[in-house]
Amino acid sequence: MNIDFKKSNLNDKGFDSVYENLSSLLPYVHNLLVNKKGKGNNFLGWIDLPLHIQKLLKDINETATYIQKKCEILVVIGIGGSYLGTKAVIESLSHHFNSLQNYRKYPLILFAGQTMSEDYISDLLEILNEKEYALAVISKSGTTTEPAIAFRILKNHIESKYGKAEAKNRIVTITDKEKGALKTLSVQEGYKTYVVPDDVGGRYSVLTSVGLLPIAVAGIDIVKLVNGACLMRNDVLQENENNIAWKYAAIRNALLQNGKSIELMVNYSPSLNSFSEWWKQLYGESEGKNGKGLFPAAVSNTTDLHSLGQYIQDGARLMFETTLHVEMSKSNISIPYDKENTDDLNYLCEKTLTYINHQAEKGTQVAHLSGDVPQITISIEKLDEENIGKLIYFFEFACGLSGYLLGINPFDQPGVEAYKKNMFRLLGKD
Ligand code: PA5
Repeated sequence: MNIDFKKSNLNDKGFDSVYENLSSLLPYVHNLLVNKKGKGNNFLGWIDLPLHIQKLLKDINETATYIQKKCEILVVIGIGGSYLGTKAVIESLSHHFNSLQNYRKYPLILFAGQTMSEDYISDLLEILNEKEYALAVISKSGTTTEPAIAFRILKNHIESKYGKAEAKNRIVTITDKEKGALKTLSVQEGYKTYVVPDDVGGRYSVLTSVGLLPIAVAGIDIVKLVNGACLMRNDVLQENENNIAWKYAAIRNALLQNGKSIELMVNYSPSLNSFSEWWKQLYGESEGKNGKGLFPAAVSNTTDLHSLGQYIQDGARLMFETTLHVEMSKSNISIPYDKENTDDLNYLCEKTLTYINHQAEKGTQVAHLSGDVPQITISIEKLDEENIGKLIYFFEFACGLSGYLLGINPFDQPGVEAYKKNMFRLLGKD
């Protein structure tokens, strides 16, 4: 994995000196993070998590196998950090049309509790009437309203469908070790339960049982995923200027200080769309505080070049792009020869779609640079468990560094409470 940066030459308000200044602070913020001396230091369990979680992988895989044998569908009930990482990993490593495959070796993972749309839940119940299913109920606090509502409805459904005793065998909960309504219910009902470590916040929890159980049920190798995270951990713990997390943290903050307040995560494959959603939560919730922080947004190209491309090239000059470049695809489809050539595409004959997609990516970066959109590129060889594990750990670590460079606590989320207070008041909660 490597990182490349091209700054645009337009409106450069001294990027280099700001970058150098931020880079000189990196040894200090690195030590704050690693030695747990900075703000939010009681939420740094994720730093060593890939080492500690190894001992739980066998148990998680056994539970996953049990669910795989019994079910066609696993419904993951959770919101924010309790589902985004799961969705990101599964979608980046699965068949694009997973839900339509006639023969699927592993259960389909569906989501609930991430929305309160009545029609969504109603459609889900309609599907579950016909299918063998299980529930993974995930809430670190065990008190979040959206998943609690979804679980109440789905608990009713699963108990009516299978009876209380069998329903119990089909419900796994993942929550705090002692607090919260979900923990109380789990003890009362005797559900199989995993613990979310106290020192790992929701958006950093994908490599705990929160993400690993549903990811394993989807047939993804969690040993390789965690191994990828361990490899990246070894790299980014190195204190030197070649550290790619240092570079990413310094570049994005230098761009912010140069007036680029929006970071667009760019992919060239729809399988990475949910990865961008996970990244948006990680950076948005970690850094958007005290009137500070980059606004994280995402596009999927070349699709979005035909919708947002115009704005990126030519609209308000607020953004820079971070492209996730994937060198190799799993498949090999090239453009067939056509003797009529009515569509004038014979010049692409025998070129693979990946080659064409890569040229689109390069061409877009050159065009956007000329429109004053600086370009960060993060490259991986291919989409597999090891590389996704590496990317997860890389972005988590860089987020901690970046938050400290920004001067905020990257590990709390006080702003999330504001909407809840108003919602509860309107709903008449005591
Ligand atoms: O990152 C976070 O802490 C939040 O986004 C949470 O993941 C989200 O609010 C869900 O919380 P919980 O898992 O406690 O239900």
